[in-house]
Amino acid sequence: MKLLYTSQQIHSRIAELGEQISKDHEGQSILLIGVLKGCALFMSHLLVQLKGDYEIDFLTVSSYGSGTTSGELTLQKEPSSTVKGKTVLLVEDIIDSGKTVSFVKNYLLKKGAASVEVVTFVDKETETNVIQPKYLGFRYTDPNFLVGFGFDLNEKMRNLPDVYQLEPSDLH
Ligand code: IMP
Ligand code: MG
Repeated sequence: MKLLYTSQQIHSRIAELGEQISKDHEGQSILLIGVLKGCALFMSHLLVQLKGDYEIDFLTVSSYGSGTTSGELTLQKEPSSTVKGKTVLLVEDIIDSGKTVSFVKNYLLKKGAASVEVVTFVDKETETNVIQPKYLGFRYTDPNFLVGFGFDLNEKMRNLPDVYQLEPSDLH
């Protein structure tokens, strides 16, 4: 495992993001919707950096697949608040293919959200990326899997305060 982003780097980047998002949405009411469970740490750290009128909610998407692969997507838990007419900021931990974010974005627009912007902690920027986030914490172009600060490998290691890159040999 190789250290990639220290908690100090993470916190100062999130503070910058919070400032930018707050400035862009001055005077507006925003509904943050986090994609569980990966969003948990990023979203809570981002939330306390936001100045203005922000509500929060969560949804869960399940993908049939485990480990480092993802499969068919379904919505497992809907947000509890109505999204109709709201300005939504969708909070994701990481965009890989972008399938999760585009699936959720389409769902929210179908539910009547006025607009859906995307903020992701990490953007993997693969060639197959189907979505461009409006806000991103870090751009990451290596193929290696990430763990820590919310990122899990089979539900473990979300609690690490820093982000690490797994070497292919770590996956065995
Ligand atoms: P996508 O649908 O291909 O964009 O995959 C995004 C989802 O896969 C994220 O919400 C994560 O839960 C998971 N994921 C993708 N890459 C990583 C990683 O490097 N570490 C942990 N989870 C990841
Ligand atoms: Mg996720």
